Amino acid sequence: MTVDDGGFTMSSYTIRDYTPGDEKSWLRCRVLGFLDTAYYDSVERVKPPISIPGFELVAAGEDGTVAGLLDVSVDGEPATIETVAVHPDHRRRGLGRALLAEATARAAATSATTLDAWTRDDPDTLTWHRAMGFAESDHYLHVYANAYTDDAEPKRAIAERRPDLRPVVLFLHARLAEEERLRKEFARVHVCRRFAQPL
Ligand SMILES: CC(C)(COP(=O)(O)OP(=O)(O)OC[C@H]1O[C@@H](n2cnc3c(N)ncnc32)[C@H](O)[C@@H]1OP(=O)(O)O)[C@@H](O)C(=O)NCCC(=O)NCCS
Repeated sequence: MTVDDGGFTMSSYTIRDYTPGDEKSWLRCRVLGFLDTAYYDSVERVKPPISIPGFELVAAGEDGTVAGLLDVSVDGEPATIETVAVHPDHRRRGLGRALLAEATARAAATSATTLDAWTRDDPDTLTWHRAMGFAESDHYLHVYANAYTDDAEPKRAIAERRPDLRPVVLFLHARLAEEERLRKEFARVHVCRRFAQPL
């Protein structure tokens, strides 16, 4: 597809399948695509795989750089958009619309009869979904308990049993003496250390 930038240039993009060679560019596009949204701190360092019959689409610029991406998983019914992002420098050029059109056609060829997209309360993203014909229905909350925001939040979340709150991600501090035990229990453990030098 060719897009009139409104200036002296015309930009061409290709909607195609993701290939392993796109990974670095895909990850960068995702980070920057999410940076000004309600998913700003959702960062992947390795492309999450999508298994067949799901699919992974990208909108690639003339030099092959990923300018937009859309992943769909198909696990019975419905098909679900796992990730959609257009790089901020390439927005409002129809890339999101073109990616979705291709995704809709491909999803329709699977067993799925519905295309779901779960997203947060980011105004521009909501506007796009509505403009693309999605109808809004079920809602639930994403809640972060962050001591760097308010020291009391994590304690408030887990100090007592709260059946109304389901833990999904917790960020915890522990003593170095617990390292061996905690590394057996948790996949991601970092040793945070102080560096200092005299002034
Ligand atoms: C939503 C998103 C994918 C849209 O991509 P895009 O390529 O910029 O959108 P398109 O150019 O296809 O827009 C199609 C239509 O959607 C509407 N739209 C899109 N972005 C809009 C915005 N910021 N404000 C108002 N309307 C908007 C318009 O009607 C637009 O048509 P128009 O430009 O002819 O007026 C992009 O803004 C994005 O990556 N947002 C972050 C995504 C995100 O939060 N993902 C997390 C959930 S997985």
